[in-house]
Amino acid sequence: MNSNNVTVVGLQWGDEGKGKIVDALAANSDMVSRYCGGANAGHTVKVGDEKYAVHLVPCGILHEGVMNCVGNGMAFDPVTALGEVEHLQGRGVHVGPDNFSISEAAQVVMPWHKLQDTLNEESLGKAKIGTTARGIGPCYCDKANRSTAIRVADLLDADGLTEKIARVAGIKQVTFEALYNYKGEIDVEGITAEFIEIGKKLAPHIRNTGALLRRATAEGKRVLFEGGQGTMLDIDHGTYPFVTSSSVSACGVPAGAGVAPKSIGTVVGIMKAYTTRVGAGPFPTELDNEIGDAIRKAGNEFGTTTGRPRRCGWFDAMVVKYTADLSGVDELAVMLLDVLSGLDELKICVGYKVDGVLQEDFDPANLADVECVYETLPGWSEDITGVTSYDDLPANAKAYVTRVSEVVGRKVGIVSIGPDRKQTLVYNTGIEGIFG
Ligand code: IMP
Repeated sequence: MNSNNVTVVGLQWGDEGKGKIVDALAANSDMVSRYCGGANAGHTVKVGDEKYAVHLVPCGILHEGVMNCVGNGMAFDPVTALGEVEHLQGRGVHVGPDNFSISEAAQVVMPWHKLQDTLNEESLGKAKIGTTARGIGPCYCDKANRSTAIRVADLLDADGLTEKIARVAGIKQVTFEALYNYKGEIDVEGITAEFIEIGKKLAPHIRNTGALLRRATAEGKRVLFEGGQGTMLDIDHGTYPFVTSSSVSACGVPAGAGVAPKSIGTVVGIMKAYTTRVGAGPFPTELDNEIGDAIRKAGNEFGTTTGRPRRCGWFDAMVVKYTADLSGVDELAVMLLDVLSGLDELKICVGYKVDGVLQEDFDPANLADVECVYETLPGWSEDITGVTSYDDLPANAKAYVTRVSEVVGRKVGIVSIGPDRKQTLVYNTGIEGIFG
């Protein structure tokens, strides 16, 4: 194992607060690479009074001297990426070829992918997945289909791109008309002109990122792999079909970044102190009541990407134990503990029953009918957002974190008590030197 590298993965249904931890870890990394998903992710980082929301550019961009990579496993939307780069530059953040690289093998999200995402969801009616409408699923469909895919490298060849766009757009036009009774017309000329132009602008950033990451690892530098979404949304291991279309657990890092499995290094699992989910699908500990409303309000649980209100519920240790096992998590970061302040008592789901029988194995595809077995712990009333050391947390807050750690079976290295970098309590991490 290369002990210098670190992988950060979400252990629930996304939005666990990965951005803040990636940002903190990036300060001590040489490279940061994403490996899954695309602009469906939304990472928020607060630096001083400034708040940055990034969707495609890795969070390490806010640190000097860190190379940030869009991995080959991503669904890369060049329009969004360029907008993000220009936005960051406009706010004085340096983004250049020396700190932002895009894999030539990443898939390009085309305008027809976004259109198809929306048309498809509309056609599904009540059975819709509740996607972010960023074209992620249709883009990965074309990746698997191969003949209708456009890769980042194609953006560098204007003639080839013109030919490909004309051919693929023709196929999409006919398909959408037949499948969705689509009456519009895909603007082939406009898209071609726009993407050739974008290709020129992004060209200095496009390279073989896998080679860069493997070299850095071999040289003993520290690479940070930044997960998107959460493991319960993993295409293979999540609550299928209510999932995203890529491998978001740590299992996705080698394929999605182009590195050896042994290179993923220390795996940090990010979890909220409670549970949230956006979009449709089963959610055993969901609180469709005033406690859920209170958590949503206190945690500002509205999507970074779509603004949708998130569904909220108690902490589900069954979920996190499963996802931590899957990714081989070495330590947990417990996020948003402060949101639970003021609740009289807190519940943790420690088991599932089906027809009254306690389940031995966790089956992500069969969560709809489980009955949760809860443990109840006393809450705390103190505002903990100003606490500066783990030891100074109220006894009940510490007892809650300890119990979470016990039932999940992993040590807790970091506790977060607010959005600011300063509001991070580090007390038992194995990542040497990472927090200086
Ligand atoms: P898609 O990734 O846009 O296809 O959406 C599929 C499912 O994953 C939907 O339920 C989305 O709400 C969810 N999803 C995708 N990305 C994220 C994320 O970054 N955070 C939370 N949920 C997400």
